[in-house]
Amino acid sequence: MTETPPITTLADDTAYAEAVQLAVDSAAAYYADGTSTLDDDAYDRLVRGIQAYEEEHPESVLPSSPTGKVAGGAVVGDVPHTVPMLSLDNVFGAEQLADWAAGLERRLGRPVTVWSVEPKLDGLAISARYRHGRLAQLVTRGDGTAGEDVSHAIGTIVGLPDRLTDAVTVELRGEVMMTASQFEDACAKRQAHDGTTFANPRSAAAGTLRAQDRPYVCELTFFGYGVLPSPGDDSEPATRLRELPHSQVMEWVATQGVQTTAVTPVAGIVAETLERVQERVGEIAGLRATLPFGIDGIVIKCDLATDQAEAGFSSRAPRWAIAYKLPATEKITKLLRVEWNTGRTGIIAPRAVLEPVELDGSTVTYATLHNVADITRRGLMLGDSVTVYKAGDVIPRVEAPVVHLRTGDEQPIAIPQVCPSCGDAIDTSQERWRCVRGRGCRAIASITYAVGRDTLDIEGLAENRIQQMLDTGLIADFADLFFLTKEQLLGLERMGETSSDNLIAAIEQAKTRPLSRVFAALGVRGTGRSMSRRVARHFATMDAIRAADAEAIQQVEGMGPEKAPVVVDELIELAPLIDKLVRAGVNMTEPGATPPSAEPQEPSADLPLVSMSVVVTGTMTGPLAQLSRNEVNELIERAGGKASSSVSAKTSLLVAGEKAGSKRTKAESLGVRIVSPEEFAEQVNAFLTNDDANV
Ligand code: IVH
Repeated sequence: MTETPPITTLADDTAYAEAVQLAVDSAAAYYADGTSTLDDDAYDRLVRGIQAYEEEHPESVLPSSPTGKVAGGAVVGDVPHTVPMLSLDNVFGAEQLADWAAGLERRLGRPVTVWSVEPKLDGLAISARYRHGRLAQLVTRGDGTAGEDVSHAIGTIVGLPDRLTDAVTVELRGEVMMTASQFEDACAKRQAHDGTTFANPRSAAAGTLRAQDRPYVCELTFFGYGVLPSPGDDSEPATRLRELPHSQVMEWVATQGVQTTAVTPVAGIVAETLERVQERVGEIAGLRATLPFGIDGIVIKCDLATDQAEAGFSSRAPRWAIAYKLPATEKITKLLRVEWNTGRTGIIAPRAVLEPVELDGSTVTYATLHNVADITRRGLMLGDSVTVYKAGDVIPRVEAPVVHLRTGDEQPIAIPQVCPSCGDAIDTSQERWRCVRGRGCRAIASITYAVGRDTLDIEGLAENRIQQMLDTGLIADFADLFFLTKEQLLGLERMGETSSDNLIAAIEQAKTRPLSRVFAALGVRGTGRSMSRRVARHFATMDAIRAADAEAIQQVEGMGPEKAPVVVDELIELAPLIDKLVRAGVNMTEPGATPPSAEPQEPSADLPLVSMSVVVTGTMTGPLAQLSRNEVNELIERAGGKASSSVSAKTSLLVAGEKAGSKRTKAESLGVRIVSPEEFAEQVNAFLTNDDANV
């Protein structure tokens, strides 16, 4: 599923020694507070390079090499671990997984009949020591043989109770991390305290776990993944725990009031075949982007205690478990420039230009920076090494500067004083800065958007023609188009009789578009094409939309409490434009929809896609070839389905065209039904409109 990332090639002993030092320093920072100078991929690459060099030059191996270390870590605490806290070896794809399993089965001299498959939680390993059912001590992994006492954090970790159900003496092992909302909360608290934020949930969790004298408390989350009964404890429960399969041990852990991944969508499962293991890997990978906490892979373990005992351990990892790594979603790269663009609604948005970096299957060069306040909050500077995050379909974003990688050459980011597009003043009263001319600033962009194929679809109205109309004062906004006369058009340069007639006809035709298209054409902030369809279907008429307050707008699926008031404000700002459209005779109703006050229409059960979530990917062929992606989505919704852009466990159907890539792979691993564009067209044939057929 993923390929092995390339290794760092080391030429000689000097390069090797430098690489070892870099890995040691990086691991030290990582285990101390999560602020490594290398991202996960770069670290893995480096260690594999070191390993390869050591295999070729065994005489040069340095004692400090991370390959011989128990856990690569370096922050040595003073609490010895009862049993070392080891690392896991990695595989990067199905083939390597099969090789590893085959090797293990050879060692055991029999097939492994039960595997346990769990998410690899991206946090910090911790040992929680319970005495007679009471949480007595918390110890970090440290260097794997001894860790740091962080018992001060007891009481702040969700999922790690002060008392277990039974008065047992055991050591729980698991991962401490921050969920998305805990991270947000921690950033807000730190921001209020010293004006800085955390780079990512992992480093926030690491810093929080070790912090003793912070004036604010941040909550953490624990998920258990293992138990060690006290060494030498031969009581019946301890002996039983040693003999139970891992899956049943984890069930016992949950009965003790400790959180395990069983409460999450990526719960640990047992699998009897490697095929099922691989399938579960796909499922977990597919769910990754939807989880409120980070995972960086899948851990596959022998479930049976006898298999584990016989497989044993190498110096740094158990032989009975392996980490199946998923592609990194976060990497460190350089912030080269910040570009400022005024969008079609007048919003001035900063965009980061980055040193290109591979992230979750694509090369990232640009990333959002949200707004000026965000840049200041994060203390970003030009030339900074920054963490960049991208997973699934999300737009890449710059998370934070890696402050300890600063060289002193970083420069402040210049904040524009005037609108970068027109030079007029900037309205800075809201977090998102806006040109004082609002939509007027980039009239060309908003009109081009409004007449585009997925909005009013006015054929023959290219951007240069719109610019000409703006320059000659024929139009100021897209509603003015509907009042143009043939004579006015003929007065334009390079505009003949036929083109004028055609354009007038195309504009006339655009008056009949459904409300969803007209609403989308307005370019209301916070609503794209698919939200516009939902708004139009929900309210059915423009009058109903305009009469709605924020609360009523919020009834539209996917419209949150932040967006709804923005929509209301936007509709007030857009009132003159909407009035003009009404005067022009533009259609303001959505065919087939009923206003919210009328009897609600049950979705007709005979629609072919009723209550189905459909994703379209790849190049369309057959009758769908002529449709834009938006038009295919409209078609799905006409046929009763819900169009979605990403494949998840909830997806009912994937329409996979030519060159379908990762979405197809994901759908296959999730067992989602896949059809060709031709098969799909047949299924929804009755809903292909004349319009669709004509284009
Ligand atoms: S089992 C002997 N299970 O991954 C080590 N580890 O890279 C056995 N981790 O140190 C660990 N999720 O901090 C195990 N479901 C899981 C895990 C998990 C995350 C971490 C753990 C370990 C590291 C190794």
